[in-house]
Amino acid sequence: MTSTLSLDTPIQIRGLTKTYPNGYKALNGVNLDIPMGMFGLLGPNGAGKSSLMRTIATLQEATEGTVQWGDINVLTEKVKLRQVLGYLPQYFGVYPGVSAEKLLDHFAALKGITNGKERKELVTHLLNQVNLYEARDRAVSGFSGGMRQRFGIAQALVGDPRLVIVDEPTAGLDPAERVRFLNLLSEISERAAIILSTHIVEDVSELCPQMAVLIAGEIRATGQPSTMMQQLAGKVWRIQLKRDQLPSYEETYQVLSTRFFMGDIIARVYSKSDPGADFEVVEPDLEDVYFCVMKKIPALRSDESVVTPSVAD
Ligand SMILES: Nc1ncnc2c1ncn2[C@@H]1O[C@H](COP(=O)(O)OP(=O)(O)OP(=O)(O)O)[C@@H](O)[C@H]1O
Ligand SMILES: [Mg+2]
Repeated sequence: MTSTLSLDTPIQIRGLTKTYPNGYKALNGVNLDIPMGMFGLLGPNGAGKSSLMRTIATLQEATEGTVQWGDINVLTEKVKLRQVLGYLPQYFGVYPGVSAEKLLDHFAALKGITNGKERKELVTHLLNQVNLYEARDRAVSGFSGGMRQRFGIAQALVGDPRLVIVDEPTAGLDPAERVRFLNLLSEISERAAIILSTHIVEDVSELCPQMAVLIAGEIRATGQPSTMMQQLAGKVWRIQLKRDQLPSYEETYQVLSTRFFMGDIIARVYSKSDPGADFEVVEPDLEDVYFCVMKKIPALRSDESVVTPSVAD
């Protein structure tokens, strides 16, 4: 049934707005093309990431706008979309006391896999894929955060989806589990498109060839992480300061970020020209890009691949 759909085109989001019943506008005229592959949606807490993910996943109605993916009008043809979608919500609740194997079997039955033998094979395959087969008899409610997220991916993969949406899956994972989880996503991305939302810049820089930055319900930048970083080349500078020097530097320079270092402060500054002695030019990273966008510094070119519509306001 799904093979007749042509879904190799970008998901096209136009004028998408979501106003909640209390009047809060969580998405404000979002225009975005999400190409197939691994796509990173980066934004701070409250930016509207989950609102956007839930809308694309057809779990909530949009107030205005359209979402088109190949043949599917996502907002009106919900069933068609759900047949090709796997979704891992930000907060993945599970029934207490039910084993991983039983729960995954239950999800597979819900997704319409009625043949018991087929379901058993699928459950075994998926538990192996996410490295939880050994833990199959343990209750998912007792799993660690990382195990629980891997279980969440297993349930999202039931039905062999063409699109997998994962909403902030790495928040709260320890570094080893985070890497393990990202590797799993990378494997999956060979067979399905993935939209990954996160507030962790490294998730995107390590994994996603395409990204967008969402802030206060608006897309503020979109493009390739590598291209965006190149655009800052020669314009990011580093300086080591005493703590009490920071306020005056913040007045004079466009400080992108600061961190403590042996009791001092290391600041990263955006400047088109050499800001002077004591500064050294550094290789831009994606965090510099993110902070430029957050602080509305018009550092990125507005061309086909990069738009910063809110920079002028
Ligand atoms: N059901 C709702 N009713 C009213 N306001 C809501 C509702 N859901 C979300 N919001 C508000 O909309 C804004 C965006 O929320 P959303 O959960 O989409 O952001 P997010 O980027 O996913 O944040 P986080 O990183 O914290 O998960 C927030 O200010 C939130 O309080
Ligand atoms: Mg969220």
